[in-house]
Order: sequence, then C-alpha cells, then structure tokens
Amino acid sequence: MGGSRSSLTLTIRPASASDAGRLAELRWEFRSGRAPPAESREAFLARCAEWMHDRLTSAQWRCWVALRADAIVGHVWVRLIEKIPNPATEPEWHAYITNLYVEPAARGGTGGALMDATIAWCAAQDIDAVFLWPTNQSRTLYMRKGFNSTPDIMAQRRPPDA
Ligand SMILES: CC(C)(COP(=O)(O)OP(=O)(O)OC[C@H]1O[C@@H](n2cnc3c(N)ncnc32)[C@H](O)[C@@H]1OP(=O)(O)O)[C@@H](O)C(=O)NCCC(=O)NCCS
Repeated sequence: MGGSRSSLTLTIRPASASDAGRLAELRWEFRSGRAPPAESREAFLARCAEWMHDRLTSAQWRCWVALRADAIVGHVWVRLIEKIPNPATEPEWHAYITNLYVEPAARGGTGGALMDATIAWCAAQDIDAVFLWPTNQSRTLYMRKGFNSTPDIMAQRRPPDA
C-alpha cells in the first residue's frame, strides 16, 4: 500500500541489547558517508554491534529507538557521567546526548520525538547538565528542544589532524 515511511505510526521505546545489530547498521549509515572508512563495513558492523551490545546492558548508557511499522529507523544515545559526591543538594550526574540519527526516509518529526523521550528521561533523573555537540544543520532542532550555547562550560578540542 502507498504512503511514505514517515506517515506510518511512530513508536519510541528504550533499546534492548538485541537491537545492537540493527543499531550498528544505522551507525554505519550515519558515519561512513562523512569521512572515508578505515575498515570494511563487515568489520565495523561486528565491532560496533559488540560494543553496543555491551553498552546496552550497562548502567552508564541509555538508548532510545524509533520504529515505523516495527522497523527501527532511528536512535539516540545518552552517556551518563558521574559527578563526585557533594554534601550539598546537587544533582550527581551529567548526561551526554550523542548519535542522534534517523534514516532519510523516516525523517520529519522522528528526530524530535527521539529527543523528547531522551529529555523527558533526563528530567526524571538526578541529572545536572545535559549536553551535546550539534552540527550546523541540527542546531535548530536542539534549540527548539531547549538547548542553548552556555557561557559556563569550558572545553578544549584536539586539532583535527593531531
Ligand atoms: C537530525 C535528524 C535526526 C533529524 O531527524 P528528523 O526526523 O528530520 O527530525 P525533526 O523533523 O524532528 O527535526 C527537523 C530538524 O532536524 C535538523 N535537520 C534537518 N536535516 C538535517 C540533516 N541533514 N542533518 C542534521 N540535522 C538536520 C534541523 O534542525 C531541522 O529543523 P529545521 O527544519 O527547523 O531546520 C536527521 O536529520 C538525521 O539523522 N541527520 C543526520 C545525522 C545528524 O546530523 N544527527 C545530528 C548530529 S548532532
């Protein structure tokens, strides 16, 4: 029947370790076009799926997946970063959002829905700063979701060819 993927019902759910193979494929789709891969697709998928399987069973990582017609079409990951205990009342974790990716055919609200699930989860945890690295194109999405450039965080970046 007709209809684009993005017109199919959208479901967002937490990822499970059994999703790792599919999520590794999405990672390859996302990153292999950005710079020439230094390993074969097969080698990368095996390495990345193993890495993701481990992280999806770890307390330090969370991932949400977007499904249309029961197929995983996108994902977003969160790495929890522990702070040193504080005697004052202060949240004891930071959260780093990374790897937001939606297949081109499923775009149009899907990325925002993944971000909504992630942000809602972070808001319900003992989390202080939630941060990410936008691209020029994705900056507007994150700004709509309440992210701003902040003057109180300092960072050093390694030069690209170092
Ligand atoms: C970013 C992405 C997940 C958005 O998916 P989506 O389903 O279209 O999400 P939404 O419809 O909720 O949001 C649309 C917003 O996505 C961003 N966007 C659109 N196309 C994009 C692209 N090719 N790359 C990055 N961001 C894009 C824009 O901020 C856009 O808002 P705007 O139209 O007001 O400028 C999707 O475009 C994607 O996977 N891009 C490639 C991976 C990527 O760049 N991820 C972000 C890394 S920081």
